[in-house]
Amino acid sequence: MAEDLDKILEEFETRMTDIHSLLELEEMRVLFLGKKGKLTSLLKTIGNLGVDEKKEIGKQANLLKEYFENQIKAKNEELTKREIEQISQADEAFDITLPGKDFPRGSLHPITIVQKEIENIFTGMGFRIVDGPEVEDDFFNFEALNIPADHPARDMQDTYWLDNGQLLRTHTSPCQIRAMLKFGAPLRAIAPGRCFRNEKIDPSHENTFFQLEGLMIDKNISIANLIYIMKLLVQRILNQDPEIRLRPGYFPFVEPGFELDLRCQICGGKGCPTCKNSGWIEVLPCGMVHPNVLQYGGIDSDVFTGFAFGLGLTRLTMMKYGIKDIRVLNSGDFRALNQFKTL
Ligand code: PHE
Repeated sequence: MAEDLDKILEEFETRMTDIHSLLELEEMRVLFLGKKGKLTSLLKTIGNLGVDEKKEIGKQANLLKEYFENQIKAKNEELTKREIEQISQADEAFDITLPGKDFPRGSLHPITIVQKEIENIFTGMGFRIVDGPEVEDDFFNFEALNIPADHPARDMQDTYWLDNGQLLRTHTSPCQIRAMLKFGAPLRAIAPGRCFRNEKIDPSHENTFFQLEGLMIDKNISIANLIYIMKLLVQRILNQDPEIRLRPGYFPFVEPGFELDLRCQICGGKGCPTCKNSGWIEVLPCGMVHPNVLQYGGIDSDVFTGFAFGLGLTRLTMMKYGIKDIRVLNSGDFRALNQFKTL
């Protein structure tokens, strides 16, 4: 057995003088120290020896193993150093310590970032996320929301009508009806989405903007529930407890209806073009769902009540990031949008 160890050592030394590359070195390591390597195989047979011999040979074998490992490590360092030298002296020499090229990475649109945050807040409270088409029917956009054909409220929303009688949805409220018809009551749902209005464009108006609709229907839902959820939402989104005010607001699909205004975060309330010098920004129209609307949605308004809100996602995003001009958000200008990298 001891002779076997001598033989292995001898072979190791001879082969070592002939190693000129890292690849050869690795093959060498496997040959001696690998699972089926020469030394490893020998160590496995030690169990058959007598007690004394086992102790002595075991000790020697382990010393040999350590010696091999150290030799290989030293050779590895030597070869690595030599390879680096060779590379840097070659014609196509390059500095392998230079950092790699950083290639451009995309980023989420600020509106998407805020939308995802709100989705997280609401899914955490058991709300489902629903969707609806951008090209809508009159029924969902107006009729079922308690806005019949001759209703003056239709003029409040400058609608883009299509030749076939359909329209580009003017708000996300049609998703209320779609969700009620699909899921019934009780219901907790939010619906983020793009809306369109034929508006004159200025720092705070766009013809294309985002809203996030919210709807909660159950037995005994009251204005207290509405206010609690609205406050929580504003606090969580802006990471502070900003000044808000609630005033009556008229929307045919809620009764009573409210406008929730937020202290202008751009000027702190002093007045600026974004808040039209009023110091307040309308971000959250809301109210108790009108019984007619529940009925259009197939829900018994004698049993269930609910609240709804239509958050101005675009405006809230402007408030959160201090964006003064709404047009930046739809511009597709990377110089602005790249600043919102979240990764
Ligand atoms: N859909 C309304 C709008 O865009 C906002 C709203 C939604 C108001 C839900 C009350 C309740 O003007």
